[in-house]
Amino acid sequence: MAPSNTNPVAVADEVLQKSRVTVVGSGNWGSVAAKLIASNTLNINSFHDEVRMWVFEETLPSGEKLSEVINRTNENVKYLPGIKLPKNVVADPDIEHAVKDANMLVFVTPHQFMEGICKRLIGKIRKDAVAISLIKGMEVKKEGPCMISTLISEILGISCCVLMGANIANEIAVEKFSEATVGYRENKEIAEKWVRLFNTPYFMVSAVQDVEGVELCGTLKNVVALAAGFVDGLDMGNNTKAAIMRIGLREMKALSKLLFPSVKDNTFFESCGVADLITTCLGGRNRRCADAFARNGGKRFFTLA
Ligand SMILES: NC(=O)c1ccc[n+]([C@@H]2O[C@H](COP(=O)([O-])OP(=O)(O)OC[C@H]3O[C@@H](n4cnc5c(N)ncnc54)[C@H](O)[C@@H]3O)[C@@H](O)[C@H]2O)c1
Repeated sequence: MAPSNTNPVAVADEVLQKSRVTVVGSGNWGSVAAKLIASNTLNINSFHDEVRMWVFEETLPSGEKLSEVINRTNENVKYLPGIKLPKNVVADPDIEHAVKDANMLVFVTPHQFMEGICKRLIGKIRKDAVAISLIKGMEVKKEGPCMISTLISEILGISCCVLMGANIANEIAVEKFSEATVGYRENKEIAEKWVRLFNTPYFMVSAVQDVEGVELCGTLKNVVALAAGFVDGLDMGNNTKAAIMRIGLREMKALSKLLFPSVKDNTFFESCGVADLITTCLGGRNRRCADAFARNGGKRFFTLA
């Protein structure tokens, strides 16, 4: 979007003050997140139009590099085929280059890669950068569980919010309505900025002051989804599955509060809580794996329908 001022000095100031966003990760959800964000940066004056998206480089069967294909076709042909990304999404295979100018970092890779990625970024990001994690999962260390937002904050020395919810990426990619929850620690202004960056008419985002609660919801619901999948695979019926979901939610709350007494009850009624639990127990990957496992008589090798 063009600067709103005509004075050249004011225009330069305005451009300098604009926030620059980089998405670290370009899988299924990373690509959809870039699509959401890039549609907003074009329309909101406080953000630079361009959204960098770091791509873990891969060579496609055609021999081409994935990042080059994304930039040529505006499509992540491997992780989000059939969906056009806005032209202002720029794929970048060089992670240091991708993050260097950004003051808003969106982390969205599988959780097992995050520690290594953060260590590579030490000293390479802007001093005023803030982060948000869309990653569902946690590191379990000898000392106990470590939330991914904590890992990011501790390694990079920056504040980190989280965004979780009933968010199956392929549905959001085709602009079917869903809600999401931003969890923040103390800075409401930053949380509101993240809400503005992600919110669209088909992706309704709200913020709650409970980072751990939101992040634990996004992590623990996967365990309940496994139980729901076993129930499906054993043909135990809908009543039993509903019981698993109800008891599972209660256990998610109890464990979350045990780990972090600050976790709030109301968080479990946000999109990140009950809604994500329902969608994952109905349609998620973990549910499907457990279903296939049970139908295969508990043998490890099976194919997913
Ligand atoms: N897919 C969804 O619907 C969805 C929804 C909500 C949250 N999430 C969360 O988003 C996160 C990312 O999931 P996704 O579905 O986008 O991933 P994905 O499974 O679609 O893609 C995996 C990504 O990991 C990258 N990768 C492979 N090896 C790597 C390495 N060594 N180092 C760094 N990156 C490597 C791949 O290039 C690819 O971009 C996960 O934490 C997931 O729980 C996913």
